[in-house]
Amino acid sequence: MTSVGIDAIEIWTGNLTLDLPGTFAPEKGEDPEKYTKGLGLHASSFPDTYEDIVTMAANASLRLMERKDLEPEDVGRIDVATESAFDNSKPVSTYVAGCLEEVYGSDFHHANKGERKFACIAGTQSLNDAYNWIASGRNRGRKALVIATDTALYARGDAGEATQGAGAVTMLVDEDPDLVEFSAEQGYGSADETDFLKPNQQFPSVDGKRSVQVYLARMREAMEDFEAAGGDTHPDNFAYIPFHTPFPGMVRKAAALGYRHALRGTDIESDLADEIGRQPRPEAFDDQEEYLEAIKEYTDALTETDHYRDWYARTVDPTLDVSREVGNWYTASVHLARASALRSALDAGTDLTGERLLVGSYGSGAQAEIHAETVQPGWRDEIHQLNVEEQLEERYDLSWDEYEQVHDAHNHDVDSDVESFTTPSGEFVFDGWGRMGERQYRYVE
Ligand code: HMG
Repeated sequence: MTSVGIDAIEIWTGNLTLDLPGTFAPEKGEDPEKYTKGLGLHASSFPDTYEDIVTMAANASLRLMERKDLEPEDVGRIDVATESAFDNSKPVSTYVAGCLEEVYGSDFHHANKGERKFACIAGTQSLNDAYNWIASGRNRGRKALVIATDTALYARGDAGEATQGAGAVTMLVDEDPDLVEFSAEQGYGSADETDFLKPNQQFPSVDGKRSVQVYLARMREAMEDFEAAGGDTHPDNFAYIPFHTPFPGMVRKAAALGYRHALRGTDIESDLADEIGRQPRPEAFDDQEEYLEAIKEYTDALTETDHYRDWYARTVDPTLDVSREVGNWYTASVHLARASALRSALDAGTDLTGERLLVGSYGSGAQAEIHAETVQPGWRDEIHQLNVEEQLEERYDLSWDEYEQVHDAHNHDVDSDVESFTTPSGEFVFDGWGRMGERQYRYVE
């Protein structure tokens, strides 16, 4: 069977940043540790006034195409996943292609372009579409650009305000990939939920506390479905487990639930039995409430064991390094988590070739998906070329007043003429409106 997966990845963060413990917490009258320890976030990335989902997507894609030495005719498919689209008809991928054509002087006229929507899981769905296109042999040797791009802004005062973020991840999907190969097995957990939605509005309506429970329920279903498809979920068999990361505290909960589920009936459960007992089994309880209480107690005890802490520090924590500094990038978030883990392995000098990742994607509304990936021999060279640290360091640090101005500048309902805080260089910028109400872009040297 053809080996298909991610050949290369590029990341582009919004050029501004908001310090959560230093700037946000004092204004909200909250303890800074609510953000750093509770949610697990230190900062959010924001788009400057000349940035949006198209500029960030085009900037990440240009970097990727240049370093992979690609021409537009090498690309047969451009899919954009976003939940921040500004056009209900013309897909964001056409705007991105237009930007890239301006620089290349050649075109993507034979590439199939589209836009995927299912909250944060749309990025993974687009990877899946690209996988199917290539595995079916319809790609004629060409590659797919899969772009996840979002400005994850919440209404001012919403509880989600602390989890905002902005950025794009572009992935090149190809045969015989250099970075990771996808497993054929997949698992889904999907249900009609109203936990987070944007019914023709810019900022989401969110039931935050419920959204956390829905995330966990769908992720558990996806795990069970993945196991039914023959997928392995033994926690020791994966180098890293990147999850969709709206904020690292959410992943802390998902990891505990996933680990507890996967260790049932394994050697790990037996090894830990002296310390914390065996996992409660539902058939031993007449009352569902009592069972849920017992399983919660067991999970709490499990997460306090050295065994679990070591596993979490090794397998999950490195996936959160970048998220902590940028917030939620919606569709791009799980792909940022994968990149973060690989970057951490590179820094630690770990040899990952042949190792496996278990990837847990999620989108509100709601759906979770689980699949496995195998790290390929070219991973080190690929990850070495990311400049995430540099990008994070170069961001302009907003004061509270400036944050309020930037939020207004991106709010469709507010008239605002705020100057940009940074000067663009070597990147695409928003350049005003065209005669049919389209957004226009240009490349700034
Ligand atoms: P909140 O009410 O502001 O925060 O909203 P909280 O009071 O629940 O506190 C958060 C955590 O900090 C808690 O930890 C507190 O205990 C802890 P937990 O008990 O849950 O483990 N805490 C502290 N820790 C240390 N020192 C302190 C302290 N104070 C409190 N002093 C909420 C939190 C998540 C509801 C909010 O941020 C929100 O609404 N976010 C947006 C929705 C969201 O991100 N949901 C996540 C699941 S849904 C999802 O992932 C999909 C999404 O990405 C969208 C899509 O798919 O398109 C959002």
